[in-house]
Amino acid sequence: MNACVIGLQWGDEGKGKVVDILAERSDIVVRYNGGANAGHTVIVGDNRFALHLLPSGSVRPDTICVIANAVAVDPEVLTGGIEMLESKGISLDGRLLVSQNAHVVLDYHKKEDHLREESLGTNKLGTTVRGIGPCYADKVGRSYAVRMADFRDLDALRAKLEKIVEYKNRIFAALYNSEPINADDIFDKCTVYAERLSPFIADTTEFLHRSVAQGKSILFEGAQGTLLDIDHGTFPYVTSSNSSSLGMPAGCGVPAKMVHTFIGVVKAYTTRVGSGPFPTEQDNETGRYIRDKGNEYGTTTGRPRRCGWFDAVAVSYAATIGAIDSIALMHLDTLAGLETLHVCRAYKIDQKETTFFPSDATKLRSAECVYQAVAGWDQDITDIKDFDDLPEAARDYVRLIEELTRRPVTMVGVGPKRDQIIFRQ
Ligand code: IMP
Repeated sequence: MNACVIGLQWGDEGKGKVVDILAERSDIVVRYNGGANAGHTVIVGDNRFALHLLPSGSVRPDTICVIANAVAVDPEVLTGGIEMLESKGISLDGRLLVSQNAHVVLDYHKKEDHLREESLGTNKLGTTVRGIGPCYADKVGRSYAVRMADFRDLDALRAKLEKIVEYKNRIFAALYNSEPINADDIFDKCTVYAERLSPFIADTTEFLHRSVAQGKSILFEGAQGTLLDIDHGTFPYVTSSNSSSLGMPAGCGVPAKMVHTFIGVVKAYTTRVGSGPFPTEQDNETGRYIRDKGNEYGTTTGRPRRCGWFDAVAVSYAATIGAIDSIALMHLDTLAGLETLHVCRAYKIDQKETTFFPSDATKLRSAECVYQAVAGWDQDITDIKDFDDLPEAARDYVRLIEELTRRPVTMVGVGPKRDQIIFRQ
């Protein structure tokens, strides 16, 4: 059984926990998009793991982990992640494969990300400044790109880096009046990365197809969320990869028809970090309540997340383009204590009511939310294991989300720990 887990909002939906739970039944977990801009939190016992590049399955000692071709690999973050797990007694030796075709994020990408954001002032995108956009730009531009396979031939890499750094320095000086970077420094770091990471570099497409043929069960882990997808999200306030399930086949070389089930992950409310339209945003007491109770601060950047009500229009769109079969509804416990909850069931745009999400940022900004108000609940639900034991209002809330998204909610998260989840099927 192969499954794909996808965020249906603007990221941070709680995918790490869902993947970690499903990884128990999977032989292989695959990351196929994004890079160290992601922050997947997995809590095992008293240990809290913040994973940025390693698949969430990496905390399970027997799971094979694949970082596939479309991931932007920051070798510093990857080696740091491997060492962090080793320090907790979890080794990745012999069970991590990194695609030879994956593009590498180097210091000049992070510098470029930072300089561009600074220069945009109030128009900045609010990126994570992890060099993701500049790395993907070099991938598409081709002439100045570095891939994992380049770590296998250091002489050729040195020559390549000299050419790239000369080009980048011209841009840094001309556009940003910024200090040059040094090719030798970058190359020296690359020799260290090459030594550490070479044993993991592989043809992951070949490996995955061999695994499919052997009947292994594979879990595909999407990073970010569908609404941040470069083609289908709220452009330009998006990330630089296909973070919807549509990115999965190209991202790892496995066709979507080899995946048996697509699981969409949502929060019981909505959050967003960075700039961009957010129709259900509550920049008020309710938003602050959700942020504090749900600990809504970025795993990667620590930025406070913008918080708002559940947006069924946005989630239905994400579920539709992602061919989502079922929903994992996370953070239901966070809503406890709010007297009335609001769910956005339609938008009013140009005086007309619509339930189809416009990904066009200007149109979305003009959307007025049509809310359905429902009763909240006071009880702490963090110890509940059975759906029928939830307060009636909480059950009704889950059913309303099922009705509006036309998808069954098969998992309900009631707390951050691995066992704080209710399975319904
Ligand atoms: P970038 O991916 O760093 O270029 O950032 C582009 C946009 O995507 C910004 O609004 C980021 O806050 C957002 N973003 C990127 N990665 C994540 C994530 O893992 N969770 C939530 N938002 C993200």
